[in-house]
Amino acid sequence: MKILGIETSCDETAAAVVENGTKILSNAVASSIELHQKTGGIIPEVAAREQVRCIIPIIKESLKNSQEIDALAVTVGPGLIGSLLVGVETAKTLAYVWKKPIIPVNHLQAHLYANWLEKKKPQFPAIGLVVSGGHTDLVLLKNHTKIKWLGGTRDDAAGECFDKTARLLNLGYPGGPKIAKLAEKGNPQAYDLPRPMMRQENLDCSFSGLKTAVINLKRKEKKINKANLAASIQQAIIDVLVKKTIRATRKHQVKSVLLAGGVAANKQLREQMEVEISKLKPRVKFFVPSPQLCTDNAAYIAAQAFFNYQPLPWQKIQANPSLSIEEATSS
Ligand code: KG4
Ligand code: ZN
Repeated sequence: MKILGIETSCDETAAAVVENGTKILSNAVASSIELHQKTGGIIPEVAAREQVRCIIPIIKESLKNSQEIDALAVTVGPGLIGSLLVGVETAKTLAYVWKKPIIPVNHLQAHLYANWLEKKKPQFPAIGLVVSGGHTDLVLLKNHTKIKWLGGTRDDAAGECFDKTARLLNLGYPGGPKIAKLAEKGNPQAYDLPRPMMRQENLDCSFSGLKTAVINLKRKEKKINKANLAASIQQAIIDVLVKKTIRATRKHQVKSVLLAGGVAANKQLREQMEVEISKLKPRVKFFVPSPQLCTDNAAYIAAQAFFNYQPLPWQKIQANPSLSIEEATSS
């Protein structure tokens, strides 16, 4: 089965065709990063207008290699309402005109399905850590349809923390890759930054204190070594994410751990998580998608729709900007 996935939840406009949830036939992404770099962040109306401009050309490009598709899948939430509407209404129109089934997709659950696009396939039960620009969630996946939220951030998301602290260091947008690059030349132990909630038994975390600590540090110290600070920020975020994921894995006795979301593209996070998971007994397998499949694209939207094939009449498909990772898209 070939599914055309469409993704417009944030600043990307993406379309992809995936066969049987595992084989990418095309994966087209138009990013409006350059526009947002000028303003240091996303202005929702600017993002949505750009998506209106790009959506048809991107869908056309994704269909170049595929004569025929069997169904459409579209992100219905969470995300920016103006952006979501561009993808949702375009997908509904195409489903109606082409007389094809359409599957509404939860963007956060879908991030995890980038792991099914790689050679090695995850096994259930699994712990999933989704770390994106707006969300940080730990979940238990019992099978393709049963997903339970275990914990997450009480304030800023991990990606948001990268983006906000990068802004404080005048590194530009998006902050994650900029901090990661600068951190390569820095000492992660140079600055003693807070890791709130890390030692607590629960599976929640908090990142807003880290941003405040960086603001205070900038006020206090005249000469800041930017590379050292970037490395210390990155390490503080990684320490919390790794600790909480290991705690969840121990508690639920799973076969796999899946990392996903834009922040999963972070090299240090991938490496350090793998090292800690490899120490667990009994053994647990670690899965993380290739970096380009971690950041927003439509291939994992189509993959999720294949494994959770629940089409709805197009009239019932609606954008839901505040959808949570546990929530079904069909209610
Ligand atoms: O999943 P994603 O592409 O979009 C959302 O759904 O939010 O995630 C974007 C987030 C941004 O906060 C960005 O700074 C972060 O992922 N990110 C990274 C890296 N690449 C992207 N964070 C740390 N290291 C990276 N290499
Ligand atoms: Zn995302």
